[in-house]
Amino acid sequence: MEAKTPAESRTTLTDLVLPSETNPLNNLFGGELLARMDRAASIAARRHSRRIVVTASVNHVAFNKAIPLGSVVTVEAAVSRAFKSSMEIFIDVWVEDRESGKRSKANEAIYTFVAVDETGTPVQIPPLKPETDLEKQRFEAALRRKQLSLVLAGKMKPNEATELKALFEE
Ligand SMILES: CC(C)(COP(=O)(O)OP(=O)(O)OC[C@H]1O[C@@H](n2cnc3c(N)ncnc32)[C@H](O)[C@@H]1OP(=O)(O)O)[C@@H](O)C(=O)NCCC(=O)NCCS
Repeated sequence: MEAKTPAESRTTLTDLVLPSETNPLNNLFGGELLARMDRAASIAARRHSRRIVVTASVNHVAFNKAIPLGSVVTVEAAVSRAFKSSMEIFIDVWVEDRESGKRSKANEAIYTFVAVDETGTPVQIPPLKPETDLEKQRFEAALRRKQLSLVLAGKMKPNEATELKALFEE
C-alpha cells in the first residue's frame, strides 16, 4: 500500500458556539467539543484509510482554554501515525478573535480510530509519511502513546510496552 501524508487526511471544521452548546458559565460545553473533535477525526481517518472507521479510544484531551458563547471555533484533525489497522489522529482546536481575526490555540486532543470492514473486523491501512517537523515529532511519539493506551485498556502488559519503558529509563 502506498504511503499517504498527513496533508491528505487533514480535515478542518469551522462552526459557531450557540447558546444550546454552552455550560452555565456561557462557555462551550466539553461534550460538544468532544463530539466536534470526534467528527473531524473520523473524517480524517476515513480520508487516510478510505474504509469504515470507528473510534477505538480517546487518548488525551486538554481543555486548556474556555471557549465563550458566539466564538468561531476551528477543529483541525489529521492522521499523525498509521499502524496496521489503527490510526492516531491529532486534533488542534483554534478560536478566532472577533476583531483581529487572529487564531489562537484553545485545546488539543488525540484520538485512535480503527479501520474495519462491513463485519467490523479490523483491516490493513496505508502507512503514513510525515513531512513537516511537527508531523515528524507527532509521528515519533505516537508509538508510546499507543502502548500507553493499550496498557490502560488492559490489552498490553506493561513489560511489553518497550517504547513507554524507554521514556522512564532516559
Ligand atoms: C476498535 C475495535 C475495532 C478494536 O477491536 P479489537 O478486537 O480490539 O481488535 P484488535 O485487537 O485487532 O485491534 C485492532 C487495532 O486497534 C488497536 N487498539 C485496540 N484498542 C485500542 C486502544 N484502547 N487504544 C489504542 N489502540 C487500540 C490495536 O492495537 C490494533 O491496532 P493495529 O492493528 O494498528 O496494530 C473494537 O473494539 C470496536 O469495534 N469497538 C467499538 C468501536 C465503536 O463503536 N466506537 C464508537 C464508540 S460509541
